[in-house]
Amino acid sequence: TGAELTRLREVAEVVATEAGRLIVSQRPDRVAVAATKSSPTDVVTAMDHAAEQLLIGRLQELRPEDGFLGEESGFRPGRSGLTWVVDPIDGTVNYLYGLPSYAVSVALVAGAEPTAEPDPRTWQALVGCVHAPALGETWSAARGQGARLAESTGTRDLAGPASPGLAEALVATGFGYSAPRRRRQAEVVLDLLPRIRDLRRTGVASLDLCAVAAGRVDGYYERGLNAWDFAGALVVARETGAVVTDFAGGEPHPGGLLAAGAGLHRVLLDALLSAGVTRED
Ligand code: IPD
Repeated sequence: TGAELTRLREVAEVVATEAGRLIVSQRPDRVAVAATKSSPTDVVTAMDHAAEQLLIGRLQELRPEDGFLGEESGFRPGRSGLTWVVDPIDGTVNYLYGLPSYAVSVALVAGAEPTAEPDPRTWQALVGCVHAPALGETWSAARGQGARLAESTGTRDLAGPASPGLAEALVATGFGYSAPRRRRQAEVVLDLLPRIRDLRRTGVASLDLCAVAAGRVDGYYERGLNAWDFAGALVVARETGAVVTDFAGGEPHPGGLLAAGAGLHRVLLDALLSAGVTRED
């Protein structure tokens, strides 16, 4: 019901905010210590792990029947058919460098198979919250109830992206971590960049998708994401009327995600396909 979805959205906001407090408050020490002790990546992994444990613990308290899918701990089925899909730190490289753009992403999805790991191609994403603690931004949405952004100056409903022509479009993207994938992604950029207004690479998939919802960029595409990178922001973007698909027009999934306003989506998809993105990716 609507009231139940509102309550679930609030649960997502509460746990994301708590995890955000942890990752912000502990960052300076941990990074400094680790810089002398171990590899920089270990720090991030340790904090990812701690924040995910916090999220699991709190969600188990508040929603003991639900399952859980997280970057660090994988899938744990529940009894309700609902699964919380979380990324404790999206934008780990920004976090490592002290760039303020990073976020905790929390989503609730209904899987097609109640006890199997929910698949983005068939799940129903019900609720999403993307909390960027160092930016002071909390994006949230529940299916059928719109999307909003809470910041220190107040909370506002999000109206969704505009749809300029391709030459006026500001487009966000991201790159995977593997070198062969980056080579292919660079080839796509080579073709696309001269045809659009400009490109943005923030390093945070969830916030890129929220940026589409707020019209801060006109479109966003990426290949090679994980389900937890985009699950929360997917609800936020869709609730504003943004069109979010894969590169074949189906449901978005790790192989491909493209988000834009209804009037730009098709044009941008065609541009990406002609730049070498394949429908199967
Ligand atoms: C990454 C970020 C980045 C995107 C990568 C993701 P992580 O997530 O969202 O923007 O380009 O594909 O893996 O590793 O920081 O959680």
